Amino acid sequence: MMMSGEQVEPQLLSKIATGDGHAEHSPYFDGWKAYENDPFHPTENLNGVIQMGLAENQLTADLIEEWITNNPEASICTPEGVRDFRALANFQDYHGLPEFRNAVAKFMARARGNRVRFDPDRIVMSGGATGAHEVTAFCLADPGDAFLVPTPFDRDLRWRTGVQLVPVVCESSNNFKLTRTALEAAYEKAKENNIRVKGLLITNPSNPLGTIMDTETLTSVVHFINEKRIHLICDEIYAGTVFGEPGFTSIAEIIQEHDNNNKDLIHIVYSLSKDLGVPGFRVGIIYSYNDSVVQCARKMSSFGLVSTQTQHLLASMLSDEEFVDRFLSESAKRLARRYRVFTRGLGQVGIKCLQSNAGLFLWMDLRRLMKNQTWEAEMELWRTIINEVKINVSPGSSFHCCEAGWFRVCYANMDDLAVEVALTRIRSFVRQNMEAMVPKKRLCWQSSLKLRLSFKTRNLDEIIMSPHSPMPQSPLVQATI
Ligand SMILES: Cc1ncc(COP(=O)(O)O)c(C=O)c1O
Repeated sequence: MMMSGEQVEPQLLSKIATGDGHAEHSPYFDGWKAYENDPFHPTENLNGVIQMGLAENQLTADLIEEWITNNPEASICTPEGVRDFRALANFQDYHGLPEFRNAVAKFMARARGNRVRFDPDRIVMSGGATGAHEVTAFCLADPGDAFLVPTPFDRDLRWRTGVQLVPVVCESSNNFKLTRTALEAAYEKAKENNIRVKGLLITNPSNPLGTIMDTETLTSVVHFINEKRIHLICDEIYAGTVFGEPGFTSIAEIIQEHDNNNKDLIHIVYSLSKDLGVPGFRVGIIYSYNDSVVQCARKMSSFGLVSTQTQHLLASMLSDEEFVDRFLSESAKRLARRYRVFTRGLGQVGIKCLQSNAGLFLWMDLRRLMKNQTWEAEMELWRTIINEVKINVSPGSSFHCCEAGWFRVCYANMDDLAVEVALTRIRSFVRQNMEAMVPKKRLCWQSSLKLRLSFKTRNLDEIIMSPHSPMPQSPLVQATI
């Protein structure tokens, strides 16, 4: 009880600062810590942890390096380019350099097979797609309002915006395809709980699934948001990271074909982090078909602009059409090869992945390796994979997947040697666990390893998965409805 005269300690920091909205203390960061404490190195630490939790595209860095070397005038940090230093260092306009917006608009079209055109005047910059999502949310929703998000999903934009995320449950029984029924169910449930739904947020191609949405699904999504009069935000950050058939269809193509839809409700989030493999450049784009959103987002963009130095370099690089064509086709080839190597390698020990053709990752099905189909079992398996197999992959629960046992494995952020080591470790782990009662056996790649998980022989086909398993108690999601 407070005594009279005693002073109440004022709350010195804001609720955002004192809350745990960033989820940095969630168990999922354990995988990152494990990697940071003991990183794999091909010569100095062959037994270290391999980072497979990072959706980074490092397979084409050499092409960018080559272009920069051949075009020294594009950078102000070279004798050939330093003449542009003063003009660029003093430029402050939040519209961005016109040549940058033109080049990005062209690149966005090229990454979508030139089947659509983007208007440079609608290109708004932000600090990566992360910033683009936040700015879009600030433009469309007030704190407490919600966006529907199909599961599994990767983004969390609740922290500073105060918006809620309402999961739309997608299941493995139809390859996690988004259905109208699931959309209606999530929407109705939110309504029952007095949550105002302001939009639907889709990621196409999907992170973490690596799949693309077909034209029918996209068309149905556009009808849905028009009927409900809510916004559609399409994260197309992997538009140019598609390496197989069927090809990618952008939401821009759908609305171009169906002119009767209300374009004002549609917004694309994009970035050069994946398709160009430059996440450190922090180039994000908000492309809205709604004039008011373009105007507001542009004003807000002053809180997270892209530096003029970066704009200048990229304007020059992306205007080189020959380079862009070669880069995108080479990137697709290299990704396809990596995907093949990985899926085949896993297939040798019977591990299946969701069939995909985009992105920088696989959605790996490890349900067979779990004692039972629970979130606890998934967590236990995940910890074993980190601590003993020494690979940092991401468990499905961290993507709010509705079924336990799926893991995202990133394969484009490492070289061929690391891939081989990772595959050897995984195969070794699976073989030992699939054999009956082998708790004492050692993995061949590491002398002192003892497996904690031991699975008795069981008929793996007997495992029954409920598609209606509860949502994980993920610390990243609190859209409990
Ligand atoms: C679907 C998706 N959206 C947005 C982002 C964030 O990208 P950026 O680095 O441009 O902020 C990522 C990065 O992993 C992503 O996978």
